Amino acid sequence: MNLNLTEEQLAVRDAARDFAQNVLKPGVIERDRDQRFPADEIRQLGELGFMGMMVDPQYGGSGMDTVSYVLAMEEISKVDASASVCMSVNNSLVCYGLQEYGSEEQKQKFLVPLASGQKIGAFCLSEPEAGSDATSQRTTAIDMGDHYLLNGTKNWITNGNSASTYLVIAQTDADKGHRGINALIVERDMPGFQIGAKEDKLGIRGSDTHTLMFQDVKVPKANRIGEDGFGFKFAMKTLSGGRIGIAAQALGIASGAMELALAYSKERKAFGKEIHKHQAIAFKLADMATQIEAARLLCLKAAAIKDAGENYDLASSMAKLYASEVAMKQTVEAVQIHGGYGYVKEYHVERLMRDAKITQIYEGTSEVQKIVISRAVLTD
Ligand code: CAA
Repeated sequence: MNLNLTEEQLAVRDAARDFAQNVLKPGVIERDRDQRFPADEIRQLGELGFMGMMVDPQYGGSGMDTVSYVLAMEEISKVDASASVCMSVNNSLVCYGLQEYGSEEQKQKFLVPLASGQKIGAFCLSEPEAGSDATSQRTTAIDMGDHYLLNGTKNWITNGNSASTYLVIAQTDADKGHRGINALIVERDMPGFQIGAKEDKLGIRGSDTHTLMFQDVKVPKANRIGEDGFGFKFAMKTLSGGRIGIAAQALGIASGAMELALAYSKERKAFGKEIHKHQAIAFKLADMATQIEAARLLCLKAAAIKDAGENYDLASSMAKLYASEVAMKQTVEAVQIHGGYGYVKEYHVERLMRDAKITQIYEGTSEVQKIVISRAVLTD
């Protein structure tokens, strides 16, 4: 495995780092406090090509590889995980899903504005009673000939009120179980589609998470992705790549916390010397650096496997499982290193600690990743 990054990949990482430090950082504490979606910042990310990074330029994307995407996600997530989850869902779930499985007409109509950052997409799978158990879809899409009639509720939808295009997973034929599920493209202005309450969350408070309701929404057949009954596989395949994005988000949250803890440990003095000169702190930093590097390698490995066109289901689940555990553990340590300062908003680490938790929950909990990993290990 070649561990060297190319000039182009390093340039993408540096551009994402500059954007995060210079544009995202100044208002991030206030956006978190006010639960304010970074609309203007996301528009700028789109202009820089970060909202459709892996999409072919013929469909408005940047034509980059997944390794570059991981590097960019890490840098953006070091500062603003609310912006990076919007970026991740748009890139990994919505744009990837449309590019890989959409019809030419769907790509021209929906992918081009999403990949070029003019519009934002949302991915709607979770329901009140279908989280980890994603086959138990209660939302129905009844076949009416030339259209589907969509009814149901989706929960915890990222970009819920800021999106224009929604990929909605729904059950068409209950007798067929998961093989009777479809993925439909729903547009924001379709009659019967309502955006419900915004969630008041522990972390990623700047991200726009809503309940969505569908009441007799007529979705044209032309908006179904793939063959009849492909919806569940579509969701699984798309989420597999999404897990690389969220793994990179977790990595960024951890490495952002470490950068802050490292800098603080060189400034803060206690018992007559900078605190990093105390072994209690130095050993924490050593553990942090080692675990973060291991998480980074798992993320880059999953991305490299995807770029090579091989099956990355196992690698993406491993990366997400490990990186999210490192994010949770090491953001707690970063707060500890900061002592009392770590517990107040001004120092950024308490936000990173709150943001870290969601990476163990969305796009498949840690337990879901262990299902995927254990099945793969037991099959080999
Ligand atoms: N690729 C292709 N097909 C796949 C697949 C994959 N990666 N994984 C499963 N499938 C197929 C299986 O082959 C099977 O099809 P066949 O019967 O035709 O062979 C079918 O899907 C059902 O698979 P399983 O029997 O493995 O299904 P299961 O009920 O045991 O569940 C699971 C497996 C891994 C737990 C799955 O349900 C899952 O991933 N759950 C978590 C869902 C999730 O990640 N939700 C996140 C919501 S989106 C989000 O969070 C976005 C956001 O806001 C940030």
